[in-house]
Amino acid sequence: MNPASIPSTTGHECRVVGSHAELRAAIQAWRAAKQTIGFVPTMGALHAGHLSLVDAARAECDRVVVSIFVNPTQFGPNEDFERYPRNLQADVALLAPRGAELVFAPQPAEIYPPGHATMVEVSGVANPWEGAFRPGHFRGVATVVLKLFNMVAPDVAFFGQKDFQQSLVVRRLVADLNVPVVVRVCPTMREADGLAMSSRTAYLSTEDRRRGLVLSRSLKLATELFAAGERDAHQIMARMRELFVATPGVTIDYLSLADGDTLAEVDRATANTVALIAARVGNVRLIDNCL
Ligand code: PAF
Repeated sequence: MNPASIPSTTGHECRVVGSHAELRAAIQAWRAAKQTIGFVPTMGALHAGHLSLVDAARAECDRVVVSIFVNPTQFGPNEDFERYPRNLQADVALLAPRGAELVFAPQPAEIYPPGHATMVEVSGVANPWEGAFRPGHFRGVATVVLKLFNMVAPDVAFFGQKDFQQSLVVRRLVADLNVPVVVRVCPTMREADGLAMSSRTAYLSTEDRRRGLVLSRSLKLATELFAAGERDAHQIMARMRELFVATPGVTIDYLSLADGDTLAEVDRATANTVALIAARVGNVRLIDNCL
């Protein structure tokens, strides 16, 4: 079936558009009718985590726009841009029944036309952790998110807590550049065994998927230690690392207890502490976190 014609449960069609002009025309009619617009930016390969963001947008806004764009500028030269899963038809089939009415699925030249020379650089919260391990990543994210915000002009935008640092970068960008959008961060969706849902888990072999559970297990341990009264962040991190030592085939990029606003590593854990992990399982990189 042509993805452009899949009906949604709201009785509206889930339209797929590729150009900024078509996007603007569709949105202008909604704006004229004083309808609020919820926006879920994605790179496709949708799973239940993305769909929970669409549900949140549907619950809060009159109209829901989803973008599907594998953004080249946020991938490093040795990262998985080429092999990143792409299946627009399957994604739209998932979105239509959830009531997303408009899917913006541009080609790279629509977002980065010839001569494009402006990038957005957030410092501070963008610098440590993912920023240090993936130089240029948040530059690409901030640039595409701002461009998408300018194109869609949503009232509310929805992001997942799984990309905790990304959500802080987006909040910083919105505050610093006076972007008139409310940013909502929604809970991480997990598989029944605790693995955080991610488009990249599709790359994992059965054995690596089992190994990857060490991320959520170590976060669960951190939560349990905190609940039992442990406040020494170094002690909690040491106990988390022990689980990784006992799991061959998983290499930690970083594991930290950090301040939930600044992302600076802390000595004492508080209610505003976030446990952040990135680790490589085989050639797949997984991230996870919990507050
Ligand atoms: O979280 C993602 O999927 C991407 O980083 C985003 C926000 C869609 C920007 O490309």
